[in-house]
Amino acid sequence: MALLSIRHLPEPVLREKAKKISNIDGTIQKLIDDMIETMQQANGVGLAAPQVGASLRLAVLQMPEEEPFAIINPEIVKSSGEQEVVEGCLSVPGYAGEIKRPASVTVKGLDRNGKSIRIKASDLLAEALEHEIDHLNGNLYIDRVESNDKLYKTEQNSEDEHQSI
Ligand code: CO
Repeated sequence: MALLSIRHLPEPVLREKAKKISNIDGTIQKLIDDMIETMQQANGVGLAAPQVGASLRLAVLQMPEEEPFAIINPEIVKSSGEQEVVEGCLSVPGYAGEIKRPASVTVKGLDRNGKSIRIKASDLLAEALEHEIDHLNGNLYIDRVESNDKLYKTEQNSEDEHQSI
């Protein structure tokens, strides 16, 4: 496994619409392993392939106290409710923003072995899945911040009040 370099704004790859993965081969498996290692090293709860420079529809996630997992070609099939969250992004270091997102989502996609999966999520997992799927479409949470006073600078090393995704 290897650590990958996390791309920050304004790298153009972060604004591209990522391509669907049609063949889950050894290269994708290695990318998944490297992305998981990179996410864990950065204390993130999620990481999308464009954040490491690969314009592919793939994300890895890890909820606190849970095992990491990958989702390939994820799509939101249902969303409901609303939650207000304070969110950060590993590609926008030093900031956090207050935004609204659906409170629950159902996401379908493929696992790392190409098997169909369907995830019903709420709270942080819903937020993280929505955040990652935004990345795959070239969108960032800062696009959802309604006004400048809802985007804050964060102290270095104070990751407690928000999650970086
Ligand atoms: Co992000």
